[in-house]
Amino acid sequence: MSIDGKLTRPKGQGKWISSEKSRQDVQHLRAASDAILVGAQTARVDNPHLTVRQRRLRQQQPWRVVVSRSGQLPGKLRLFSDEYASRTLIYQNKTWNHLLKDLGRKGVCQLLVEGGAQVFRDLVRKQLINEVVLYIAPLNFSDHLEEADLIDASILLQLPLQDTRIQRLGPDLKIQGRVSSNLKSPTPTPNPKSSHVHRHR
Ligand SMILES: NC(=O)c1ccc[n+]([C@@H]2O[C@H](COP(=O)([O-])OP(=O)(O)OC[C@H]3O[C@@H](n4cnc5c(N)ncnc54)[C@H](OP(=O)(O)O)[C@@H]3O)[C@@H](O)[C@H]2O)c1
Repeated sequence: MSIDGKLTRPKGQGKWISSEKSRQDVQHLRAASDAILVGAQTARVDNPHLTVRQRRLRQQQPWRVVVSRSGQLPGKLRLFSDEYASRTLIYQNKTWNHLLKDLGRKGVCQLLVEGGAQVFRDLVRKQLINEVVLYIAPLNFSDHLEEADLIDASILLQLPLQDTRIQRLGPDLKIQGRVSSNLKSPTPTPNPKSSHVHRHR
């Protein structure tokens, strides 16, 4: 994300926000996760792979999970048409509680949420995020007042963190920490932790 918490760039300024190094780092997070979740809008707009590209990092691809209320998800999206299509799950109009329990039953202990902002906001409000990994690029889009529609996930920057680690990745900062306010929440077993990555771009 940018310094001001945006997940998208102003029109005509390219797609990625964070650096190649950060994007490589995300591959390790994916490899350490049992499932990777995105909101339906991210699936529709980005058409992501959500895979671990290097086989040596992980033998079996993590589950790929999409949440949707409308169920409007084109079958041609990579998530439904690539070689790992059988690893894609859709949860339509399900509560987070249902989703987490169901993934837990499938053996998912670590769930990586890659966006977008709506999903992040919902999970923050419901205190379902255990850990945050932010990739902050040295970009600030707050001058682009006309670009009011830039996708904003600055809510993540306000989360109180503990055991915080900060690392430089090329031009970006990686900030990782456990969410303090969530530590008291009871966690049903088995239940995935909602680890949360602010993805590359
Ligand atoms: N820079 C980055 O790292 C990064 C990462 C991810 C995304 N993005 C960008 O962020 C944008 C998308 O973000 P967004 O905030 O607009 O959308 P989003 O969070 O990706 O998806 C929102 C959609 O998810 C579904 N949804 C949300 N909460 C739900 C819930 N509790 N239960 C069931 N379904 C739920 C709904 O789908 P339906 O509409 O189908 O009902 C909703 O419209 C894209 O432009 C993408 O490129 C950037």
